[in-house]
Amino acid sequence: MTPTLKDMLQQAREGDYAIGHFNFADSITLHAIAEACQKEHTPIFVGTSEGEAEFLGYQSAVALRDALRATTGLPVFLNADHHKSFAHAKVAIDAGYDSVQIDGTELSREENEKISKQVVEYARSVNPTISVEGELGYIRGSSELLAENEDIELRPEDLTSPEEAEQFVARTGVDRLAVVIGNIHGISVKGNPRLDIKRLREIHEAIPDVPLILHGGSGIADDDIRASLSLGMSNVHVNTDIRIAFSDVLRKELQASDGTTPYKYFQEPRNTVARVVGEKLRLFGASGIAR
Ligand code: G3H
Ligand code: ZN
Repeated sequence: MTPTLKDMLQQAREGDYAIGHFNFADSITLHAIAEACQKEHTPIFVGTSEGEAEFLGYQSAVALRDALRATTGLPVFLNADHHKSFAHAKVAIDAGYDSVQIDGTELSREENEKISKQVVEYARSVNPTISVEGELGYIRGSSELLAENEDIELRPEDLTSPEEAEQFVARTGVDRLAVVIGNIHGISVKGNPRLDIKRLREIHEAIPDVPLILHGGSGIADDDIRASLSLGMSNVHVNTDIRIAFSDVLRKELQASDGTTPYKYFQEPRNTVARVVGEKLRLFGASGIAR
């Protein structure tokens, strides 16, 4: 029987490696991610943010997941990434997503708890194997190259507190928790902040059985990622690195030729994304786990 996402994240936590989570909004990027996962023998864990899902369509994302299950034979999981309202999370659950990240971090702590609990209860009522991710703390930035003047200065109140993490998980019942320990979304031209490994250790000690999730996986020092793997970090989200790889190479391809055939000029961007994803999977120590 194919393991569930909940099982795979618990195995990752116990095995001190992380499963990669990659965003997509088109089938070219998705196939590049799948190709890398096949090569590295890892599960395929992909996600669409609200914007990405709106562009692609929830049903199309589910159909593409199903096609990958049939063609790769790997465990394939589809996540509703950074879904900020119950209504959007419900659309994803009803469409057949395997996982939802309910992101209530723009709300008050009480409201974040309330909406996270509501999504957990709804997901369980539809399909108990759906994994629900909550988030505590505030992640600055967005998944792009961030200019010098972008506000990525971390404030103490942005960071996840170990005590609050314990309370949040107990009160909401989320299966996994996204933490803020210096990670930002995107790559800053000034260089991304380093991770606060001491804080991560404290969070892991407070909730040792809960798989922790690292967002903003682009631009983080490799050593910080490696250090996080034995401290509960079971899943790393990457988007900007693959967006940049795709668009840089596509621009070059279009400039270098006057070709008009998409499957030809998309080939090199696709190969490049597969290479970037492969490097990440090796860094996360995930290679070989899905044989
Ligand atoms: O949810 C998506 C990830 O957190 C992506 O972060 O764009 O910095 O890689 P990133
Ligand atoms: Zn994120």
